Amino acid sequence: MSAQNVTVVGMQWGDEGKGKVVDALAASSAYVVRYCGGANAGHTVVANGQKFAFHLIPCGILHPGTCNVIGNGVAFDPEVFLQELDGLTERHVAWGPDNIRVSHAANVVMSYHKLEDKLGEAALGDAKIGTTARGIGPCYADKARRSTAIRAADLICPDVLADKIRRIVEGKNKTFAALYGAPPIDAEAVIEQYVAYGRRLAPLIGNTGHMLRKALDEGQRILFEGGQGSMLDIDHGTYPFVTSSSVSACGVSAGAGVPPSAVGQVVGLTKAYTSRVGSGPFPTEQNNEIGNRLRERGREYGTTTGRPRRCGWFDAFAVRYAADLSGVHELTLSLLDVLSGFEQVKICTGYRRGGKLLEAFDASDMGGVECVYETMPGWTEDITSCKTFNELPRAARDYVSRLETLLGRPVGFISVGPGREQTISHRTKVEGLSR
Ligand code: GDP
Ligand code: IMO
Ligand code: MG
Repeated sequence: MSAQNVTVVGMQWGDEGKGKVVDALAASSAYVVRYCGGANAGHTVVANGQKFAFHLIPCGILHPGTCNVIGNGVAFDPEVFLQELDGLTERHVAWGPDNIRVSHAANVVMSYHKLEDKLGEAALGDAKIGTTARGIGPCYADKARRSTAIRAADLICPDVLADKIRRIVEGKNKTFAALYGAPPIDAEAVIEQYVAYGRRLAPLIGNTGHMLRKALDEGQRILFEGGQGSMLDIDHGTYPFVTSSSVSACGVSAGAGVPPSAVGQVVGLTKAYTSRVGSGPFPTEQNNEIGNRLRERGREYGTTTGRPRRCGWFDAFAVRYAADLSGVHELTLSLLDVLSGFEQVKICTGYRRGGKLLEAFDASDMGGVECVYETMPGWTEDITSCKTFNELPRAARDYVSRLETLLGRPVGFISVGPGREQTISHRTKVEGLSR
């Protein structure tokens, strides 16, 4: 467990297959840590033919001996978390303070945050962000406001919690009534609900930052599991159509309570094409037969909301930006199998606006851009059983190599199906991904 730390971060708009890669790396990691986002994430692991979809629980949970941590940067929803724990019990996966811990400094998603998320989105009409309705934005807004925030530590102090909830709900009732004409929330019911959560969660809540810094001192391997994708980053994504936390590798340090040097090797996860859920710019989107085909072949329906995902060609201009932002050492290319059967595949290499090629990618200024595409021959073969790079058809190999050139870093690992065994170790230098 003394290999270098590793950070897994999404390069696109989320759902790049992070769950599968985190599961693969967890066996060689002492800790798996979520540092951003919350139950808006949906990370899928297919292990021994069984499918698990995790929203809050880190994807190392299926590995005995690995400790899974919800960092202070996470919007922690105790309701979803406890449901997930109950789901694990039903499936005979063991959990307890030895393998799952929650930071006492994580901000808590309250029931009124979820309500606020829904009411706010409905009021925006066509201008809506298309959130997952998990209360993420309102929870982080209260975190920044401070006086209206609840932290995990409060859950285990019932008196403090009750006082805070009474005061906060009084204010929320005024705002919700004025803004949305909503009926009042019963503070006592919220208190009862969250005190009960606190009672169950008490053994798992603690000072995870200290625990992780101690692990660093001892040279134990930590794996940081990103949520969402870089283009949804609050600072560096396609604002305002983003989520509300720092999801790139830049967020690891603040969101886990470790020094920036703890990030280790950065693995950038990218699909072999692109998908996006919710509103906002998506230059390579194919709102046509190609997009429909990608959606059906890739089963592109949201893990958290079930919404159909928007699909399109690979955007190397955007992924290059995301990889540079997070200091990505190597890429993992997932869902390559989905491209089988396309006569031609396209890669966007840059954007033009008003006929002029843009020099730099700017996530905050995507209006009116047109994609510049390169077209490559496709392949027809089913590649879901390929185990080595050389078993891939020539056209697939050329596609991967072209992406490496455009993105300026090696493709270390390739995924050709949802199963644990459907992987190809290519040029990886990350322990746990090489065979
Ligand atoms: P995450 O949010 O990044 O963890 O990704 P999701 O779990 O939301 O979405 C990825 C989906 O693709 C899941 O259903 C995975 O089981 C599936 N998947 C992962 N890798 C591959 C792959 O290489 N090929 C195919 N066909 N499916 C994959
Ligand atoms: P994983 O970790 C894909 C998107 C939502 C919406 C925007 C804001 O599974 O990759 P929010 O509820 O966060 O306020 O919604 O961000 N979004 C995701 N899209 N995968 C995710 O997570 C996402 N988490 C949030 O669809 O457009
Ligand atoms: Mg997902």
